[in-house]
Amino acid sequence: MAVLKLYEYPDEVLRQKCERVSVVDDKLRRFLDDMLETMYVDKGCGLAAPQVGVTKRIIVLDDNPSDEDKSARRPMFLINPEIVWRSEETVLFNEGCLSLPDQRAEVERNEKVRVHFVDYNGDEREILADDLLAIILQHEIDHLDGILYIDHLSRLKRTRLLNKLKKYREEKERDKA
Ligand code: NI
Repeated sequence: MAVLKLYEYPDEVLRQKCERVSVVDDKLRRFLDDMLETMYVDKGCGLAAPQVGVTKRIIVLDDNPSDEDKSARRPMFLINPEIVWRSEETVLFNEGCLSLPDQRAEVERNEKVRVHFVDYNGDEREILADDLLAIILQHEIDHLDGILYIDHLSRLKRTRLLNKLKKYREEKERDKA
């Protein structure tokens, strides 16, 4: 398995509408494994293909990405995921994203979603998700349409977050020098 290069805001690849996958073969499964490895290494709980520079409708996630107890992990691979139902109830959750390092903000999401997708073996599946899983799914599926969680914030909150990101990057550069 390999750790893939992460693309960060404001890279244009994060703003593309991704293409559907037509074949699930060993080559694709290798890519899925690499995506999952990359997600764990970077301590994320979800990763979408455009975040590693591939504009295909693929996400990987884990709503229990424990480092101490790897047997407790719950990895999921979703190809061509589609939200087919959303609950009317919404929840606020403090989200982060590997493409906007070190930042977090509260985003309003549907509490439950039903998602149709193709799995690791190429089989069609559907899940009804709630809690953290529902939030991760909405965040990651957004990525496949070029949408970032900051797009759900007010202009003021978004500006503030992007300023903090700029500062964080400047400090990181200074530490390197
Ligand atoms: Ni993200």
